[in-house]
Amino acid sequence: MCGIVGYIGRREAAPLIVEGLKKLEYRGYDSFGVATVGKTLELDKHRGRISGNTKSALRLKGKIGIGHTRWATHGIPNDANAHPHLDCSGTIAVVHNGIIENYSELKRQLTARGHTFRSETDTEVVVHLIEEEYGTKKDLLAAVQTVVPKLVGSYALLVIAAKEERMIVARNASPLVIGIGDGENFAASDMTPILEYTERAMFLEDGDIATINASEVKIFNKGKQVSRPLELIDWSLEDVKKGGFTHYMLKEIYEQPQAFYNTIRSVNSDTLPGFVLNPTSITVVACGSSFHAGLIFKYLLEESCRIPVRLEFASEFKYYPPPIEGLVIGITQSGETADTLTALKQAKAHNCRTLAITNILGSSVSRLADTTIFMRAGPEISVAATKSFIAQLAVLMQLVNNISGRMCSDMLLHAHQAIEEILLIDLTDAVAACTGVKDIFYIGRGPFYAVALEGALKMKEISYIHAEGYAAGELKHGPFALLSPETPVIALCTPGETYGVMISNIKEVKARGAPVIAVGSEGDSELPDIVDIFIPIPHTSPSVQVLTSLVVLQLLAYYTAVALGRDVDKPRNLAKSVTVE
Ligand code: F6R
Repeated sequence: MCGIVGYIGRREAAPLIVEGLKKLEYRGYDSFGVATVGKTLELDKHRGRISGNTKSALRLKGKIGIGHTRWATHGIPNDANAHPHLDCSGTIAVVHNGIIENYSELKRQLTARGHTFRSETDTEVVVHLIEEEYGTKKDLLAAVQTVVPKLVGSYALLVIAAKEERMIVARNASPLVIGIGDGENFAASDMTPILEYTERAMFLEDGDIATINASEVKIFNKGKQVSRPLELIDWSLEDVKKGGFTHYMLKEIYEQPQAFYNTIRSVNSDTLPGFVLNPTSITVVACGSSFHAGLIFKYLLEESCRIPVRLEFASEFKYYPPPIEGLVIGITQSGETADTLTALKQAKAHNCRTLAITNILGSSVSRLADTTIFMRAGPEISVAATKSFIAQLAVLMQLVNNISGRMCSDMLLHAHQAIEEILLIDLTDAVAACTGVKDIFYIGRGPFYAVALEGALKMKEISYIHAEGYAAGELKHGPFALLSPETPVIALCTPGETYGVMISNIKEVKARGAPVIAVGSEGDSELPDIVDIFIPIPHTSPSVQVLTSLVVLQLLAYYTAVALGRDVDKPRNLAKSVTVE
């Protein structure tokens, strides 16, 4: 949810931390703060975004520093609730990503012992607890080691203190990576702020506490020193730059041909275990866009193999678990979505075998699941999922082939070309029809119903226009009451078994006065005559048309949001990875 970054080495920490926070803002952006240790411990923190507001943070002195960009959970976004948080003496600073569930009780006890709290956050208890232990033990590592077992919840913590030439970090159920540099070391929520300096990284495990100085990292778990593998991260710095695009989202939409190409070729039945290749039944757990990817998978697999696929919102699964058996697949691009992690834990508790599909090496889901398929989408910075979604579909479409024992079709192997072609589409008329309306409906059938859901999610998320996806046949069972000339309906109407019934649905909509924007196959002789705006996509296989129509809807949402002057990459109230239930 929040982004954290820490540095220790030969450079001034503040500029490096500030730049790192800018790259982490996709994890949360309602306030930010930096603390450094030089001659003393210095702090600067503010409500709002880091861009354009960095003057005072850049003045902080010291070669050790920590920073935080926040997505508020406990306490409104204001200066006091921004991290880092300090102890009573102002000599220890902590940043935290996660939630301390037992903070109320700890706060009550600490207040009774005379500590003064300056914020409403859960995090502040951590720094006061460390203050007490540091006061008696005089050893920052030992203090953190004593405090961490008292915390219930999830945390990635970075701790620094005046006169200490080290940073102490701890992880439980929140991501934390240590970047190994040359005479300098880093710690962060993910690799994006570190890539500029090193490609060598160690991913901490739950329960790990590490002490980091400029030349050495020592990791402990349950008091014993442990080692974690050094991984080489093959993401490049260019991947996390905008590269001439106005927004990350547009850049990432344009990276989709490559993401699909790389991913579909990387999934190989030789590397998959038997329980994935020969399932008797499958349950998919996921949230948001990943749920929509799961829905497309359900349609494709059930059609090709007749293996039942159950799809569950991960957030419901924990509290209302259905009877489950067989294979459980968790789809999560970030690998950190709390609901999806919890659902997979639940599945394991029911003795199910688990498969994770994620974009992030070393993510929590990849440690949790029995086996993991990694997508090859590269880093996705924009909050709205685009290329990670296409890469999820590459994995899932290949999985359908692997399970059904079919070869990947030539059409699918060349789908990147169709995706590339569609990027050039002119959506001027459709954007004009969407800009200025309050509601938009999206309709489709089968896998295109999932495309409709995803298109509507993209639209509402970044343009703030109310948008709903419906299975096309459902619109007349209630939502018809909302149709008017001010409610465009976007219909996905491609060749296939449901083409005729989609045409009827479109006519029904038109008869109620709503304008229809249709996405259909190029060369369609009927559709262009009955709709207001026709958007042609290449005439290929249904699976490839799922991909290309998705890209059309992503672009439509993007250009509409830009026309409305929205903050496309950082839509209000959202964060990229949702690490709370
Ligand atoms: C929408 C979007 C979200 C995520 C959802 C799950 O554009 O990005 O709906 O799909 O929060 O995230 P992951 O896939 O990281 O579990």
